[in-house]
Amino acid sequence: MELHYLGSVLFSLLMCMTLVRSEAGVSKSSCRFPAIFNFGDSNSDTGGLSAAFGQAPSPNGETYFHTPSGRFSDGRLVIDFIAESLGLPYLSAFLDSLGSNFSHGANFATAGSTIRPQNTTISQSGYSPISLDVQFVQFSDFQRRSQKIRKQGGLFGTFLPKEEDFSRALYTFDIGQNDLTAGYKLNLSTEQVKAYVPDVLSQFTNVMKGVYGQGGRSFWVHNTGPVGCLPYILDRYLITAAQVDKHGCANPFNDVAQYFNRRLKEAVAQLRKELPLAAITYVDVYSVKYTLISQAKKYGKFLADPPNSDSSRFEDPLVACCGHGGKYNYNRYIKCGSKKKVNGREIIIAKSCGNPTVKINWDGVHFTEAANKWIFDSIANGSFSDPPNPLKMSC
Ligand SMILES: *[C@@H]1O[C@H](CO)[C@@H](O)[C@H](O)[C@H]1NC(C)=O
Ligand SMILES: *[C@@H]1O[C@H](CO)[C@@H](O)[C@H](O)[C@H]1NC(C)=O
Ligand SMILES: *[C@@H]1O[C@H](CO)[C@@H](O)[C@H](O)[C@H]1NC(C)=O
Ligand SMILES: *[C@@H]1O[C@H](CO)[C@@H](O)[C@H](O)[C@H]1NC(C)=O
Repeated sequence: MELHYLGSVLFSLLMCMTLVRSEAGVSKSSCRFPAIFNFGDSNSDTGGLSAAFGQAPSPNGETYFHTPSGRFSDGRLVIDFIAESLGLPYLSAFLDSLGSNFSHGANFATAGSTIRPQNTTISQSGYSPISLDVQFVQFSDFQRRSQKIRKQGGLFGTFLPKEEDFSRALYTFDIGQNDLTAGYKLNLSTEQVKAYVPDVLSQFTNVMKGVYGQGGRSFWVHNTGPVGCLPYILDRYLITAAQVDKHGCANPFNDVAQYFNRRLKEAVAQLRKELPLAAITYVDVYSVKYTLISQAKKYGKFLADPPNSDSSRFEDPLVACCGHGGKYNYNRYIKCGSKKKVNGREIIIAKSCGNPTVKINWDGVHFTEAANKWIFDSIANGSFSDPPNPLKMSC
């Protein structure tokens, strides 16, 4: 009895030491995530909205894919760099029935998605009906039916993940920005928008709990970005000089984003208590994006080296690369890729600036590939994460 007791004390001590060692990053090895399941909006949509509602038009995709690729950017998104760095293929959109291969994950994000379902249609407000609750339903269906299909054997099963991959996968979330702008579109005040944030977050945490209930254990959660620095906000809303910060961003919108982020961080802390087997990483993407926008000239697309010439530095952080004129090169009626018929021929009237590698903003709403790479490089080693683990060790 006593020996047994001593044994278990020793065992606990050893366990503690192992834990301390791994906390210090000494013995913890890479997680080897076999798959990624992503939930989100346009910041991480790799083809969902395009599959359901029409392709993001050219020049989207011009830099890397050299053709529209279902992404609202000239090239890759942060989620693409996440997949690359984990040695996994780019995620197919769950909604994309053509050429998809889900063996290493699936992407449930669609551009314009919100956490809460909206009471407007996509043609009224532009928000996607594939809100986070719907994305979760799709994930559940995917998990259940993919295993049924694998068990049947045959070709279709080879496009689907293994059963054990669901618990070992990385679950990534980047969503919330559109819930905030949705209120402003309905003419609500900042106070009214703040008032519904707790409801938004409770619906968010419900989905996290749902994924955990289905076996998910590793969660990587991006907070929401400085939406008040984006041309589509700066162009649309009446923002007084007093509401603009020294970098030209709209304070009320950034304040509400930071309010959302504080509450999100609290919600994540609460989730850690309720989901004891989960590893939840909260990533402060807001600070990374704000640093990039507010100090653009200091940086170039290669994070590791300071830019060696002025021509490789980022410029005009508040001006869209692809657009149709105005202070921010953004016109909400003539968006990136808009066409016009001239003498029976369609020509693009909202074109690319031609040098997206030195621009931060792509189309007034989304980031360029160069900016996305910079953002990924900043967050990958964990220096903006809570807990501060690198991406590869977030399990
Ligand atoms: C799906 O993608 C994986 C990883 O890229 C690859 O190994 C596999 O062969 C692909 N499946 C099919 C059926 O093409
Ligand atoms: C939609 O309407 C319902 C019923 O009035 C309400 O409970 C819900 O909060 C509304 N959703 C949004 C996003 O405004
Ligand atoms: C918001 O206010 C604008 C300007 O007064 C008006 O044109 C628009 O219809 C309003 N939108 C809603 C949803 O009430
Ligand atoms: C993470 O990478 C950034 C950029 O390369 C660097 O400045 C920072 O010191 C790194 N942090 C850690 C914890 O390694």
